[in-house]
Formats: sequence, C-alpha cells, structure tokens
Amino acid sequence: MSTKNIVLIGFMGVGKGALARELVRCDASLYALDTDDMIESLTNTRIKKIFATAGEAAFRALEQKTADWLAHNVTNAVISTGGGFYKVNNINSIGTVVYLKADFEWILQRILNAPNAKKKLKKRPLFQDIEKAKSLFSERFEAYEKVADIVIDISEHDTRRIAADLLAQLNQQ
Ligand code: S3P
Repeated sequence: MSTKNIVLIGFMGVGKGALARELVRCDASLYALDTDDMIESLTNTRIKKIFATAGEAAFRALEQKTADWLAHNVTNAVISTGGGFYKVNNINSIGTVVYLKADFEWILQRILNAPNAKKKLKKRPLFQDIEKAKSLFSERFEAYEKVADIVIDISEHDTRRIAADLLAQLNQQ
C-alpha cells in the first residue's frame, strides 16, 4: 500500500462510512476520517445547523478548507466524504478517489431500511424531500464518475467483499 489516501465519494446514504470502517478493519495501517465529522468538530456545529444558519455556500467553503488541509497533512487514511465533497477543486491531490456507485432507488431503500432511518434522514438537509434528492442525484451522477480514479458498483456485493477487492486492487498499483 502506498502512503496515498483513499477518498470515498458518492451520493448521500450510499454507504461511504460503512465501507471506510470495513477498510480500516481489514488494513491496520489505515486510519478512518470523515469530512462531515471533521467539519462538525472544527465548527463545533452540526451540519444541519450550518446549512440552516450559515447556508450551503458556507458549508461548501468548509469542505474546501477541509480538502486543503487533508491534501497537505494526511496520509494513510480512508476518507469518507459528504455527498457534495467531490466538488472541491483538489480532490485528486488528496488521494485515490473511489466512487461508490448505485442507482437512486437502491440508495433510497438502503436509507429507508436502516434501523435508525428517521434519524439518518433528519441529519441530511438535502434529503428532506425525496423528489428533490432524486433530481440532485441526476445532476451529480456523471460528475462523480468524472473525478473518480476507481468506480465500484456498491449494490453488487456486500461491504466485506467490496473492501477486500478494493484493497487488493490498490495493492497492485
Ligand atoms: C451532502 C451530503 C451530506 C453532508 C451535507 C451535504 C450533499 O453527507 O455533507 O448534508 O451535498 O450531498 P452524506 O453524503 O454523508 O450524507
């Protein structure tokens, strides 16, 4: 494994955090970070509140600040990101960008079937209305693929298998 980071991108609810946790479980040399958690720690404010009080543009600026810091200071990490983080201007300098791909229906079912679905949805200001979330997905899905170095169809296998396959692929590079 190189000292590069693994950057997981993809739509809200696709399972970026779950895959990050599985990757660090499989490879003890890696450490897991999450950009939303970093922003909440930095500002001592929940994402939902940042959107409500400072607005989405302020949140995107915090994502860029986080990207700049990660690019200069972090190695050997699996970084799960917020669904819009792929828009930062230096994502490819942070590490190998892995897009977790699935269609909108699959993502919606994954969210709705989660044991704490209501709580998970409440935390996401851009997933309050299913139709709006669906059109956001349509706006973004090609862009995710464009910035990605690796695309994984996450709906095809379970998280364990995906993590093992991804680590094997990265180790060959
Ligand atoms: C967002 C996704 C969220 C969070 C914020 C905005 C987006 O993260 O960063 O609510 O623009 O898609 P998750 O993808 O972890 O839900």
